[in-house]
Amino acid sequence: MIENKTPKRSIVTGAASGIGRAIAEQLIESGGRVLAFDLDKEKLTESAHRYGDAYVAVDGSVTDTLAVRSAVATAESELGGIDALFNVAGGLRPAPIIELAEEDWDFTIDVVLRGVFLCTKYAATSMVEAARGGAIVNISSVNAHMPLYGGSAYAAGKSGVEMFGRNAALELGRHGIRVNTVLPGLVDTPMAAIILENEGIMAEFNANAVLKRPAQPSELAAPAVFLASSAASYITGTELVVDGGYEIGGYPDLSKYL
Ligand SMILES: NC(=O)c1ccc[n+]([C@@H]2O[C@H](COP(=O)([O-])OP(=O)(O)OC[C@H]3O[C@@H](n4cnc5c(N)ncnc54)[C@H](O)[C@@H]3O)[C@@H](O)[C@H]2O)c1
Repeated sequence: MIENKTPKRSIVTGAASGIGRAIAEQLIESGGRVLAFDLDKEKLTESAHRYGDAYVAVDGSVTDTLAVRSAVATAESELGGIDALFNVAGGLRPAPIIELAEEDWDFTIDVVLRGVFLCTKYAATSMVEAARGGAIVNISSVNAHMPLYGGSAYAAGKSGVEMFGRNAALELGRHGIRVNTVLPGLVDTPMAAIILENEGIMAEFNANAVLKRPAQPSELAAPAVFLASSAASYITGTELVVDGGYEIGGYPDLSKYL
């Protein structure tokens, strides 16, 4: 029987909302402490009031080297070290390629891909120095595998996260650090509001989605926390698609014809 231990000291980026907030909640409910790193100071402060000592709020951007280094230093001093890093922060400025402004491409790639690199680089440095191993979980997207109209930078960045995760697993495994990536489908969070609030888009989504509904953030948090826990001690360098069967549902539904 494997004892399932969840990380006690974690950094969660994008922790003020959606999937990141749900991950922070599940870690705290399992007895852990979290350094919540996000741009949104107001929402971080609300959660800090709710969770007290278990929640250390640091506002800043994952694309800002100084802010990332300072968050890692705060995790070392306030939490006593880092057992797990959850790279969740994300954002996009969508537009079809011909109309996509170069600065909007850079914005999306910066937050989606460079942010994962910076947080991994500095959190992994701390983990290696502490020599206690650790786990890193990246949140990518099914758009790493499936193109999205207007989402070229997002899809390219998320695909890059998947390969970056495998590379990080290869390099960090010798230090006892596991790295895995979760690929969500559609999740009920503010980021997806433009899709969730459009009846036409949702009818098309539900036609392909095997489970016929978007996920709740907690349904992404649970597999992410699992990948960072001791129950996943032999899992590294891989991806877990958590999309309610969206990726496999694309072919026309032949049940009506056979
Ligand atoms: N919602 C979906 O349908 C969906 C699907 C696939 C993948 N994802 C991915 O899941 C992750 C979480 O998104 P969500 O759906 O919970 O969205 P969300 O909007 O609820 O939360 C995203 C959080 O990231 C923070 N953030 C944005 N840019 C940041 C930056 N530069 N530095 C620090 N924090 C920053 C925001 O302030 C926000 O709190 C993202 O990486 C997103 O791409 C979401």
